[in-house]
Parts: sequence; structure tokens; C-alpha cells
Amino acid sequence: MVASSGSGQREGWSSRSAFILAAVGSAVGLGNMWRFPAEAGENGGGAFVLFYIFCVLLIGLPVLLSEVLIGRHGQASAPESVRRVARDSNASGGWSIFGSMGVFAAFLILSFYCVVGGWVVYYIGVFAADLFQTGLTGGAFEGREASDIENLLPGLFGNGSLMVGLNLGFLAVTVFFVARGISSGIEWVAVYLMPMFFVLFLGITIYGAFSGNFGEAVAYLFTFDASKLTGEVMLAAVGQAFFSLSLGVAGMMTYGAYASRETNLGETSGVIAGADTAVALLAGLAIFPIVFAAGLSASAGPGLMFQSLPIAFQAMPFGSLIGLAFFIMVFFAALTSSVSLLEAPTAFVKDAGKLPRPVATLIVGVGAAILGVLSALSFNEMADFRPLAFIPIFAEANFFDALDGVTAKLFMPIGAILTCIFVGWVADARLIDDENGLDGALHQIWRGLVRYVCPILLTVILLAGIFPEYAETVFSLLSSEPAAELGEAAG
Ligand code: PHE
Repeated sequence: MVASSGSGQREGWSSRSAFILAAVGSAVGLGNMWRFPAEAGENGGGAFVLFYIFCVLLIGLPVLLSEVLIGRHGQASAPESVRRVARDSNASGGWSIFGSMGVFAAFLILSFYCVVGGWVVYYIGVFAADLFQTGLTGGAFEGREASDIENLLPGLFGNGSLMVGLNLGFLAVTVFFVARGISSGIEWVAVYLMPMFFVLFLGITIYGAFSGNFGEAVAYLFTFDASKLTGEVMLAAVGQAFFSLSLGVAGMMTYGAYASRETNLGETSGVIAGADTAVALLAGLAIFPIVFAAGLSASAGPGLMFQSLPIAFQAMPFGSLIGLAFFIMVFFAALTSSVSLLEAPTAFVKDAGKLPRPVATLIVGVGAAILGVLSALSFNEMADFRPLAFIPIFAEANFFDALDGVTAKLFMPIGAILTCIFVGWVADARLIDDENGLDGALHQIWRGLVRYVCPILLTVILLAGIFPEYAETVFSLLSSEPAAELGEAAG
């Protein structure tokens, strides 16, 4: 008999829909609105986007179900949940290492995520002030040069104390809600902010579709050009899929631990992945038409949301109001994600140290604040600091980019590979069947993906992304062989 673990009175979601809202809230965030368009633009558009969708379906969704399933069975912080599944499967408790790795990665992401959260707060201030000055009807920033608007971000970067202040402010709000606990903190944020997010989001997407260059955006995002699909682009796409679905970093395991036995995890995972991917694609379809219509470049990277979009708001009727609504909406999405990033390490510190929740939250918060200062200063004061100069793909990265790159491109895929091996091969099959809520063919497909497809594909993509030169040689060998044969046949 497979025992279900549990330790006395635990916190939990008040309903299934609260769990879904919180998990969707974790998934939908800066990853969709800011990171996705930036990564798509920097990695050549269509090839990246279609490979990203492929990754969500074939890797993200099965890994998501694996993570929430471990959490729900373990009913504890991520490392402890893994240990309990291992115990109930007569496997080594050493597997909890990937739970611990995930907790650590979530902590790293939290530290730089709140820096970007701070920029969002800054832009809320900018648009609110503008609305106040120029009134409701005109465009934003009336009479100001585009370069002025573009320079708002470098201006912010140049102001170290403002950067740090905003970062700490955003982190403090996150700490406040997590310290209040699951139902009156994290769940509260999700239940109130996510619906407001969706209303604002739909409004702005529809506006973008009608007022911008929609056709060009669709062509840009969905035209597949195989020659652009390099090892680096593939790793970037997989990293984006994980980042966006909050995977590989214990976040979903931690949220799964608060789910009730009645929740069908298979179904719920589908809803979470579907909602997250829809928001990312719609965000692309909202941002790129506006950017193209203003004649701006798609490859503006991280500047896309903070520089290109505000320029585009200038030309719009009600520009300051729309800009304000847009950044408020991004703030809601970011906060529901940052609470999940903080909850994963908090649950661990709370369990491991047997500490009251507010104390555990504060300990993690202070750690993230210290690390966050280094990220906040890496755009100006510490711009020349290259912490990972010895790893070729991160050679140029400042502290902020290094954390972002290492977590999305190493921690997340490695965490996911270990999760798949654990769930697919190590854990007791009956225990897994008991938890996953899948029947028949769907169950078989999921099991095949977790056991074979995900770990193999992830390993290949990981290697191809880390060693792009080798990958290129292999790719060209693979693709030149049939061509050579064809050539011979023709000759
Ligand atoms: N998925 C979140 C986003 O897209 C970020 C996140 C990553 C949250 C990992 C939790 C864990 O913004």
C-alpha cells in the first residue's frame, strides 16, 4: 500500500480554483510580458517561438505535472517532499538534492526578479505623473522627443540609490504577503490581482491588435525559419518555457504541496500551462504590433517593454492612461510570481528550521535583498563585473544577466532532467499513478514523455546550448549527409 504522507495541520489552498489562480499567478509574470518578447526578438522571432511552444507541450507540461505531483504527495517544502516520495518508494533520500537545488535557484531568481519589479513600479510612477500633467485624452509624454522617452530607462539605471530603493520596495511588498501565509497572503494576492490582470490584459491586447501592425507581428512571431534554430536558440527557448511555467526551481512543487487530495493534478496542469502560454503569445501579439507600427526594432531585447512600448504609447490616444494601465497590470502579474519565488525558499527555511512563517520569510527576504543590490547595481556602478567570465556563453554577462542565464539555462533544465528521472524511473509507479489524475492513453503518453522524451531531449538541448560550436558541427553533419546523397544521386 502506498502511504500518503502528511504532517499534522498544514496550511493549504481554500479551494481548487484558489490553487489554479495561485499557480497561474506564479506562471504568468514578467516572464510573459517582459522576458518572452525580449527573448523572441533576440533569438530571431518565429523559430524561437515555435520551438518554445513545442517545448511547453512536450517538456514543460509533463514536468509541471511531475512537480505538482511530488509536492502534493510530500505535503512539505520541495526537498522534504522529494524525500517523502523517495521514502514511500524505497529509494534513496539523496534525491532531495534536486529539491534543494530548486529552492536555491528560486532564491537567486527572486533576487533579480524584484529588481525588474522595481522598474515596473518606476514606470507606474512615470505614467501616473504624465497622466496628471498632460490629462486624459492626448498621447503620453506630449512634446517630448522619442530619445527622451528611451532615455528614461538608462536614466533609472544611472541612479543607483533609486534602483536599490525600488528593488527593496518591491521585495518588501512580496515579503509582506508571503509572511501572512497561504490563504490570507499568497492566495489573497492571486484571487484579487489575477482577475484584474486578465481584464486589463484583454483590453490592451485587443487595443494592440486593432491599432498596431498586427499582420507584421503575426508573420514575425509565427514564421518558422529552420536555419535560425541553432543550439543557443533552442536552449533559450527551453529556458524560456521553464522560466515562464515556473519550473525546475521548486516553485510548483511548493504550491502543489498545498493542493488537496481532491484536486485533479493532470487537468490542473493543463489549465496552468495553457493559460501561461496563451498569455505569452498574446503579450507578443500585443507588444510587437505596437512596436512595428511605431517603426521600432523587434530585437530591442530587455528594452522592448520599458523603452519601445512607452514610445509607442506616445502616439496613442489616451496614451498615458493606457501606459499606466499596462504597467499596473504588469505589476500585478509580477507580484503574483514573486510571492511564489519567495514561498519556495521560505517553506524550506520554515520546515528545516522549525521557524514561524514570518521569521522564515524575513530571513529569505534579507538574503534576497543583499543579493538583489548586486543585481540592481550591475547596470551602472558594477557594469564591468563579469562573474561568469570563465563560461563562454555567459562571458559577457553582468551580475544580473549571469543570474538570469544560469538559472534559466542551467538550473532549470538540470532540475527538470532530475525531476523526470526521479518521477519516471525511481519513484514507485503506483504512487505516481495514484497522484497524477490521468487515465488511459493520456497517462501512457505522459509516462513516455517523462521517462524518455523529456530527459533525452533536455540533455541534447542543454549540451547544444552550452557548446554551440560542437552543436553546429553535429547539425551540419546531420543536415549535409542527405544533401550529399541527393547530390550523388543527381550526379
Ligand atoms: N514564471 C514567472 C514569470 O513568468 C517567474 C517564475 C519563475 C516564478 C520560477 C516562479 C518560479 O514571470
